[in-house]
Amino acid sequence: MKHLLCLSQWSSQEILETIKMSEKLKFENKNGIRHNHLLKGKTLGLIFAKSSTRTRVSFEVAMYQLGGYSLFLSSSDIQLGRGETLSDTARTLSRYIDGIMIRTYKHSDVIDLANCSTIPVINGLTDSQHPCQVLADLMTIKEYKGKLRGVKVAYVGDGNNVANSLLIGCAKTGVDISVATPEGYQCEDATVEHAREAAKESGSKIVLTEDPYEAVKDADVVYTDTWISMGQENEKEIRKKIFISYQVNDKLMGIAKKDAIFMHCLPAYRGLEVDEKVIDGPQSVVFDQAENRLHAQKAVLVKLLG
Ligand code: CP
Ligand code: NVA
Repeated sequence: MKHLLCLSQWSSQEILETIKMSEKLKFENKNGIRHNHLLKGKTLGLIFAKSSTRTRVSFEVAMYQLGGYSLFLSSSDIQLGRGETLSDTARTLSRYIDGIMIRTYKHSDVIDLANCSTIPVINGLTDSQHPCQVLADLMTIKEYKGKLRGVKVAYVGDGNNVANSLLIGCAKTGVDISVATPEGYQCEDATVEHAREAAKESGSKIVLTEDPYEAVKDADVVYTDTWISMGQENEKEIRKKIFISYQVNDKLMGIAKKDAIFMHCLPAYRGLEVDEKVIDGPQSVVFDQAENRLHAQKAVLVKLLG
């Protein structure tokens, strides 16, 4: 059985096929072709231990458009929040529904849940990875740049869940990626290793640096995310000081290619990781990115639950 826990477990071909399927579903959706036969009668449980706007709404709408049904399961409302084990939760839910999406803290919890489930599990974000986001991001990059191979992405800021998944996603699909993070806030070692392995096959160039200007020089895509991820709220003041020189503003965008696009997974904090002139300016594609979550996740759902 297939899960989506981390992009490192999907082959390049699977990732590229999923992006193609996302493009087809988006085109059809825009042209009035309905998809409500694809997952007719299927049900997806959505377990959330952290907040969400995009992930929750796009998964719920995706299941509706595919002819299925979704159940929002806040982890504080189900017995998981009172101490029922992940394994008992997984085995119980497997008797009722056809798939589980989970957003939580520890990545190992998602792996444990998947190991005890007899239905596909989709990672809707952990402290370590955000694979659904990056499938939509790769789709968006392809939409704007017409290709993936050879495109240069610069990620600037915290080496967090989004950065980890972006690094793997780019390395698997031949996208060149430069990541600029302050010392002590780099991407996870295991992720970097996976990405370097994948890059050997795909030909993608990986650069890890502390210098945002080095990363962004001649980039086709400039990407950032919040400096304070969910669960890090008590580090807010110190992080704001450490990351100050990593803000994406006009000056930094100025050294990317002229036609570079600006990306952010959202939610964004204007005046911190990104200046409002950039995120609300003509190079920003953040709402196309957000929309593509819907199309990319429909492709994932059809692949795993169909
Ligand atoms: N980008 C993203 O996952 O957004 P939400 O936290 O709103 O789901
Ligand atoms: N890195 C952010 C992403 C939110 C979608 C977080 O984990 O809060």
